[in-house]
Amino acid sequence: MSDSVGMSVDLGGIKMKNPINTASGTFGNGWQFEGFFDVAQLGAITTKGCAAEPWDGNPAPRMAEVTSAIMNSVGLQNPGVPAFVASYGEYLSGLEERGCRVICQVAGHSLDEYVRAVELFEELAPFASGLEINISCPNVSRGGAAMGATPGAAAEVMRAVRPRTRRPVVVKMAPHDVGEIGRALESEGADALSLINTIPAMSIDVSTRKSKLSRPTAGLSGPAIHSIAVRMVWECHNAVDIPICGIGGVTSGEDAAEFILAGATAVSVGTANLVDPTAAPRILSELESWALSQNVSDINELIGAVEC
Ligand SMILES: Cc1cc2nc3c(=O)[nH]c(=O)nc-3n(C[C@H](O)[C@H](O)[C@H](O)COP(=O)(O)O)c2cc1C
Repeated sequence: MSDSVGMSVDLGGIKMKNPINTASGTFGNGWQFEGFFDVAQLGAITTKGCAAEPWDGNPAPRMAEVTSAIMNSVGLQNPGVPAFVASYGEYLSGLEERGCRVICQVAGHSLDEYVRAVELFEELAPFASGLEINISCPNVSRGGAAMGATPGAAAEVMRAVRPRTRRPVVVKMAPHDVGEIGRALESEGADALSLINTIPAMSIDVSTRKSKLSRPTAGLSGPAIHSIAVRMVWECHNAVDIPICGIGGVTSGEDAAEFILAGATAVSVGTANLVDPTAAPRILSELESWALSQNVSDINELIGAVEC
C-alpha cells in the first residue's frame, strides 16, 4: 500500500484540495466551527442560502428529530446578500486565502430574484470561488423547489443566471428526476450539480394530532436518506458529463467513499455537522485512509468506479 494519495479534485472549475465540502445550511457560514477545528483543512464550504433581500424564514418549531434523521423547515432565513457580505465577507475571504474554497449559495423566489442575488454576489463577494444556485428548497411557499421541479423550469433558471457570472455555477438539485433535470442544467451551462437537497416528509405529534413542525411537511436529512442519495448520484452521473457533489446522510468516510464510487467528484457533510461539530475533518481523514487502501495514486481514479 502506498503512503500517499492525491486528494485534490475539480468541481466544475472549483479547485478543491480534497473532496470534502459542507452542505448549505448545516455549517453556519464556517466561522462558527473554527473553535472546533481548522476549517481550512476542508476542500470547500458552502454557505447558507442567501437572497438579494433578507428573508425571515418560517415560524418555530422548525426542527424535529425522527428515526435516523432530522426534519427542518427553516425556510431559507437569511440576511440578504449585502448584510451577508458585510458580516462574513472578511472571514470568508480569509478562508479562501487559507486554501479552502468558498461556495456561496444563492436563493430566490423568482427568476428576477435569482438574477438580482447573483448580480449582488458578483459585485460584493469577489472572494467566492463559485456560486451554488438553490432550486430545490422544499420549505418555502414561493420559488424554492418549484424552480427546479421540471427540466424546463430548471433550465429557465440556469439560462437567466448563466450570463450574470463568469464564476463556476453549481446547481443544487431536488431528489427527483435527477438524470433528466441534470441534463437540462448541463445543456444550459451549469458547471457542476449538487444533490440531494432534503426529501419532503411529514412527522405528526400523535398527542396533539399536529405536525411536529410549524408547517405540515418539512425536509428530511441525515443517515435515513443516504442510500437514496447514493442511488440518485449514480443515476445523475450516468446521465451527465459535468461533475457532481454528493450530499445526503454522510456520517463516515465509508459513506463519502460510496458517493465517490457512485460518480461524485466531491462530497458534502450536512446533518452530521449538527451532531458532531468535528464530523467533517474526521470524515476527510477516513476518506483518505480508504483511498489509500484502494491502491490508486489519485482519488480521481475512484470517481464512478462502482462495478455493477
Ligand atoms: C437545518 C438545515 C438547513 C438547511 N439549509 C439549506 C439551505 O439553506 N440550502 C440548501 O440548499 N440546503 C439546505 N439544507 C439541506 C442540506 O444542505 C442537505 O442538502 C441535506 O440536509 C442533505 O444532507 P445531509 O443528510 O447530510 O444533511 C439544510 C439542511 C438542514 C438540516
